[in-house]
Amino acid sequence: MRVLVLGGGGREHALCWALARAPSVDAVLCAPGNVGIAEVAELHDVDPTDTAMVRELAVREGIDLVIVGPEAPLVAGVVDSLQAADIPVFGPTSEAARIESSKVFAKDVMAAAGVPTARHWAGNDAQSARAALRDFDQPYVVKADGLAAGKGVRICVDEAEAGEALTELMIDQLMGAAGSTVLIEEFLEGPEVSVFGLCDGSDVVVLAPAQDFKRVGAGDTGPNTGGMGAYCPYPLDQAALDGLRDGVFRPVLAELAVRGARYVGVLYAGLVLAADGPKVLEFNARFGDPETQALLPRLSSDLAEVLAACAAGRLASTPAPRWDERSAVTVVLASGGYPAEYQTGKPISGLDEAAAMDGALVFHAGTRLDGDQVVTAGGRVLAVTGLADTVGQAREIAYAAADRIDFDGMQRRDDIAAAG
Ligand code: AMP
Ligand code: GLY
Repeated sequence: MRVLVLGGGGREHALCWALARAPSVDAVLCAPGNVGIAEVAELHDVDPTDTAMVRELAVREGIDLVIVGPEAPLVAGVVDSLQAADIPVFGPTSEAARIESSKVFAKDVMAAAGVPTARHWAGNDAQSARAALRDFDQPYVVKADGLAAGKGVRICVDEAEAGEALTELMIDQLMGAAGSTVLIEEFLEGPEVSVFGLCDGSDVVVLAPAQDFKRVGAGDTGPNTGGMGAYCPYPLDQAALDGLRDGVFRPVLAELAVRGARYVGVLYAGLVLAADGPKVLEFNARFGDPETQALLPRLSSDLAEVLAACAAGRLASTPAPRWDERSAVTVVLASGGYPAEYQTGKPISGLDEAAAMDGALVFHAGTRLDGDQVVTAGGRVLAVTGLADTVGQAREIAYAAADRIDFDGMQRRDDIAAAG
């Protein structure tokens, strides 16, 4: 198989790395990729949201399977465009990807499918939104309906702060059109886990849960980020996973199919394990980043085969993916200032020493070459994964490898998987 991965972050590096190891894969191409991805894939300088250019690339290169990493190309319709040209693609159509791009749509689907989630109010009138706060308790959860790069959710301690959040979204339009419709939600208490289902339109394989560390600071302090680290597997027993398959994934796939939006790709359920059972916080239409960097190093079967089976709608007749029993811990190295403003172009040292360590993998997220020197090029710069028999050992390897790497202003959390 010749496979093309769209995207250029740490998640896509992990995908390309796993695909390059897959026996069924003859060539891995990536657009646009990054410095680390260039070691395992052939890079093409094509914008993944430019659906016509992506299709042209896939046709020209004789691609047998396209795998879409981030949400933006999905929402832009890259899957629709590839399907129209009969190119197999792992990812949902723009209509099906609304499960991520509209939180109101996701809530409608969950209600129709009987999936447990936080009680909510939704609307686009600021006065009604303020009045609706009365039906909720502190702390208030205020969300923009649309995509807001992880910045669309505010947890507000009191009604005054919730009122401000509503004004910022609906009147000041700080998130643009994404915030013209808002949701107010019941606050859910409990550990958060990310569970990915590989979907073929009607069937699903539920993968081992991962936990993401979303806040920038140790002890879950400071603003939300894309994710500062992860570990996998998060301990959930098989009965709980079967419960999620039958109570969350299958009903959502069935409901989307009824709506004419067959779902192919990763369905990512962000869950809170509440005292009265798991509840869905949100769905994403893609693999999580950095969870994927902790998930895929544990895969011992062929990634391309299972993703191709999803794209072809034949998951049921394909052997389930096999996993290494070991645990993986991933630590993100980010630019100083992230998730607010940060500088780029900082030379990175120690990459080879870190990657040479036993059980360590270094995935590139925001990097580029300046001459021969690898320099920073984004907020999240690298994701360092350790793989070992226990979470504790994997954590030691990840941090020992991360200790070898340095760049000006580098920040990381020192408590990833500390309790595991
Ligand atoms: P979301 O983009 O919807 O996943 O929200 C981002 C983060 O905000 C989540 O990972 C949670 O930590 C938090 N959050 C969102 N909704 C709720 C809720 N209803 N209750 C508690 N925390 C929430
Ligand atoms: N790590 C969270 C996400 O990928 O959305």
